[in-house]
Amino acid sequence: MTFSQIYKDIRTRLSLPILFLMETFTYWMRLCRYNASINTDADIRKMQYTLLRENHTIEKGMSIRNTRRGFGQAKVTALIQRLRRYNRMYGSQDKSFLVYPLSTIKAYIAYQHQDKVDIPEIEKLYATLCNEANISSNTIVLPAGIERVLATNLQKEAVGNFSSLLYSRHSIRYFKDEIPSKDLLEQALILSSRTPSACNRQAWHTHIYFGEDSHELLRMQDGCKGFCEDIHCCIVVTADMKGFLGHEPFQCYIDGGLYAQNLINALHYVGLGAIPLSCGFLSKKLYKIQEKINIPKNEVMIVIIGTGVMLDEMKIAISTRKSISSTNTYH
Ligand SMILES: Cc1cc2nc3c(=O)[nH]c(=O)nc-3n(C[C@H](O)[C@H](O)[C@H](O)COP(=O)(O)O)c2cc1C
Repeated sequence: MTFSQIYKDIRTRLSLPILFLMETFTYWMRLCRYNASINTDADIRKMQYTLLRENHTIEKGMSIRNTRRGFGQAKVTALIQRLRRYNRMYGSQDKSFLVYPLSTIKAYIAYQHQDKVDIPEIEKLYATLCNEANISSNTIVLPAGIERVLATNLQKEAVGNFSSLLYSRHSIRYFKDEIPSKDLLEQALILSSRTPSACNRQAWHTHIYFGEDSHELLRMQDGCKGFCEDIHCCIVVTADMKGFLGHEPFQCYIDGGLYAQNLINALHYVGLGAIPLSCGFLSKKLYKIQEKINIPKNEVMIVIIGTGVMLDEMKIAISTRKSISSTNTYH
């Protein structure tokens, strides 16, 4: 081999690893600047997103099967204090943001009253916040907190039309103590195989776990505190990194995400309940989970979908959506 051939060979072998290193560095720079954990309250958007997250833990707390009596008081107190800070910092810029969290807190107070739990300190803080923001509690009428729904209604709406399918799908956090049939699971998998993918590579994969294996996986995931044992079937959606080329290092997350959303809707369509559960964790945690549940290292975990047979009646979190005027820009 001549010197120039050796040089060419080394250059070819190293060019992609170097490109990936540069890509990683670029992503690192964006993370350092835009990640919500860095200088959170100095940026209105970061503060709003993190407040929405805290708000969600309250509505989620109300939507699980067995809520602890008087649960969540420390979290609600912390949320109100942070909302007061938001109002001081950004109230003049975007006060309407406060309406959704205030509605959740109002629903939380009503929930505790129904449970005959006294929370005078929280009620006082809530009134102080309304007062400081100059928002009358009577005007807070946004549906928030939780709603009771019937399985028969959800199933009827799921097979109605596309709009009723989307509007009747909710994350369900507890199920009947039985395993969904393979027939229904496979009907949903077949429907979701209609998902578009970059160059039709279909690099997604699903891994299904039942019973105690499902509970154990959810305990490791750790986003289902208080309801790990209420979900008896988990589908882990992964995407195969081997399906993607040097110029598309993140495409696996996009194709995998599109597939996962279709699977969630398809499960609802075939009459099962479902909930997406995060795999958005640091690699150390994900590798540990992946090894434990026997998922090959070339696959990246996209999301865990808890699924199951719906009970006749369930509580679901209303999870109010933003208006499209705040999420869309015409260019
Ligand atoms: C990627 C992803 C990860 C999620 N992770 C969790 C989780 O760990 N625990 C949980 O209770 N809900 C989780 N959810 C469910 C969301 O809380 C829920 O989708 C959101 O509040 C909207 O409510 P809806 O699904 O009822 O419309 C997750 C949803 C998505 C899309």
